[in-house]
Amino acid sequence: MTAPLLRTKAALRAAVLGWKAAGESIGVVPTMGALHAGHLSLVEAAKAGCDRVIVTIFVNPKQFNNAADLENYPRTELADAEKLAPFGVDAIYVPGPAEIYPEGFATTVSVAGLTEGLCGAHRPGHFDGVTTVVSKLFLQTGADRAYFGEKDYQQLQVVTRMARDLDIPCEVIGCATVREADGLALSSRNVLLPADVRAAAPALHRVLRQVAERLRDDESFGPVTAQARAALHEAGFTEVEYLDLRAADGLAPMTRLDRPARLLIAAWLGGVRLIDNIAVG
Ligand code: PAJ
Repeated sequence: MTAPLLRTKAALRAAVLGWKAAGESIGVVPTMGALHAGHLSLVEAAKAGCDRVIVTIFVNPKQFNNAADLENYPRTELADAEKLAPFGVDAIYVPGPAEIYPEGFATTVSVAGLTEGLCGAHRPGHFDGVTTVVSKLFLQTGADRAYFGEKDYQQLQVVTRMARDLDIPCEVIGCATVREADGLALSSRNVLLPADVRAAAPALHRVLRQVAERLRDDESFGPVTAQARAALHEAGFTEVEYLDLRAADGLAPMTRLDRPARLLIAAWLGGVRLIDNIAVG
């Protein structure tokens, strides 16, 4: 059965109040729609961990630092509701812009430090947009738990910090990245990849794995990543924005594997920005 589509804060609040009164736990899966198996894995985790599950779909204008990217972002509400039907979620919250950013909206939620490098360095204002909308979604849904993908590893770290810092009583839970058979991490942006470059896309994950292996063999970071960048250009990528080794917890820069780490990358292929990351050590 298709879950009810709730379009207003008031409708959401009415549903949530009933569940809370019955002592039920609430999980939320925030998304921007164009749902794929990566999103659905979060829904599955939420269903397993909570009595009630809300999926939110809102293409958040504040987190796009590029007007064309916002314009081109896929919007597939009907198909999304159909994809969610087999999971038995309790509500799909699809707020209009005024429910999130009413006339006169003037507040920004901003996390320092964690947002400064990696994607934050290349997408000015992006994480402020994410934390502003996610804090609102946490408060509007009153969720006990929120499910985020490791695919967006920096986002997962930033949102976790934000909830802790603001005492929002919502536990942030990270879930493993879901990939195509060829290794490409699922992303709503993959449908924008021109057909003639799609075959090159798995190089992103392949290169990450090769770099991780060479770091484990104690090779030094500089030359290994220089070769990795060259390999991506060879495969057809036009720009590698970053390829960085960071502490898995807190994202401090690292050059040696002396604690659990994450290797993170962002690169452009066929006019589409792809990101990925894997655990190392
Ligand atoms: P969106 O890109 O739609 O992603 C929604 C959630 O799905 C995020 O937590 C993301 O990490 C997760 N996800 C995406 N691809 C995945 C994959 N291949 N495997 C596992 N999880 C995956 O991220 C956003 O939306 C927005 O920034 C949002 C948090 C909704 C705030 O607007």
